[in-house]
Amino acid sequence: MNFGKKILCIGAGYVGGPTMAVIALKCPQYKVTVVDINEDKIRQWNSDQLPIYEPGLDGIVKKARGLNLFFSTDIKGCIKDADIIFVSVNTPTKTFGLGAGMAPDLQYWEKTAREILESSEGSKIIVEKSTLPVKTAQAMEGILKTNENDSCFEVVCNPEFLAEGTAIQDLLEPDRVLIGSHQTDSGLKAAEEIVKIYANWVPKEKIITTNLWSSELSKLVANAFLAQRISSINSISALCEKTEADISEISFAIGSDRRIGSKFLNASVGFGGSCFKKDILNLVYIAESYGLDEVAEYWEMVVKINEYQQERFVARIVNAMFNTAVDKKIAIFGFAFKANTGDTRESPAKYIVKKLLEEKAILSITDPQALTNARMDLAGMDGQIAFEADPYKAANEASAIVLITEWDEFKRLDYDMIYKKMRKPALIFDGRNILDHQTLFSLGFDVYPIGKPSLTHSH
Ligand SMILES: NC(=O)c1ccc[n+]([C@@H]2O[C@H](COP(=O)([O-])OP(=O)(O)OC[C@H]3O[C@@H](n4cnc5c(N)ncnc54)[C@H](O)[C@@H]3O)[C@@H](O)[C@H]2O)c1
Repeated sequence: MNFGKKILCIGAGYVGGPTMAVIALKCPQYKVTVVDINEDKIRQWNSDQLPIYEPGLDGIVKKARGLNLFFSTDIKGCIKDADIIFVSVNTPTKTFGLGAGMAPDLQYWEKTAREILESSEGSKIIVEKSTLPVKTAQAMEGILKTNENDSCFEVVCNPEFLAEGTAIQDLLEPDRVLIGSHQTDSGLKAAEEIVKIYANWVPKEKIITTNLWSSELSKLVANAFLAQRISSINSISALCEKTEADISEISFAIGSDRRIGSKFLNASVGFGGSCFKKDILNLVYIAESYGLDEVAEYWEMVVKINEYQQERFVARIVNAMFNTAVDKKIAIFGFAFKANTGDTRESPAKYIVKKLLEEKAILSITDPQALTNARMDLAGMDGQIAFEADPYKAANEASAIVLITEWDEFKRLDYDMIYKKMRKPALIFDGRNILDHQTLFSLGFDVYPIGKPSLTHSH
């Protein structure tokens, strides 16, 4: 088939894969190729067993793959061939050297820039899809300008706002698409090329164009605001537990105010995922590097409250178990950082499991999608851990259930049956406030929600 423009995406992860699948589906006139250094991942993208779980993704990949959607490991060849290159490689927090624990590790990003430079001919648009510190485009341009052949590049920033678990829906009907570019003729022309792609299915008024730096910074700020709401409500949940106020009632009461809005007001064990913490720390680091210490401290508290919430949760578990979890079986319901994904990066479950193992508890972990990742994450960790696909088996003979991920599957379980097979007193800690606490209490459980009075029979 004769395609118009050729799109390449470097990085076949949680963002690159789904984003390109949707672009391919909606834009049959473009040839869309996704490459990755990880050969195994590409093999999986080309198989029936995709490397990530995301509702709706399988169907879209099956429809477009082989028609105008391709997955390949030929990075050099595909760079050469492409007109538009999205870069969607990982940008984790740096673990070494200057800015360790705060700044993003841009090594994958820089390697990609150099690969693009080495393999390019002619003119190309480079699209920053990864989340990056403000002014990163300048660094990329610095590398790309060192070319010795006739290639020329225009760097555009198109940050991704999808949320794992609802990625396909978010891509099909985004709240907005953001495209930042230099406000020069060539910059605006490049931005227009990217607008053209999205205009195939996104209403024009939802496609926002800005200057490059606003676009880069908007992504960090969006994640910081979202995480801030979670930390705000979680900080109040601690106060609720001391005062018999109920966090769900408060969320409803304040969320009814249209200025506040009702979303992202569920108290929980805290946020996880590869982005929120990393992006806030990135923002903090940038603010610090400009000498804006008050700004940095303000946003750093969002991360600190998140850690505090997880610490509080574990302390509550141990405390309710008569201050000892030694040799007690605890069922962990959910290991993914949120429902509808198998992703466990920065999942609160990791911290909670680690702490409960330090208390010498015996853990049985169940999750509908994340057991493979959980096994990898916990490999080599001292203590007794079992992985159990069946939640009923995980809870069998357990003294407590600790619910960490808000999977619908956990709402639908027969808790009467579960209760009967647990050791008594049977405790349940609802880290997401998704269960029917009154019913659980009437079945015999001692119930410990977040930000609400506990319902206990014995103490
Ligand atoms: N996961 C999310 O929900 C989400 C949402 C919005 C934005 N983002 C941002 O998007 C970016 C990618 O995130 P992700 O979750 O998809 O990461 P990921 O780790 O799932 O995927 C990144 C992929 O890039 C590949 N890669 C690294 N260096 C490469 C190179 N030189 N050449 C080819 N491939 C290379 C890796 O092998 C990996 O498969 C990050 O900056 C992240 O902050 C993520």
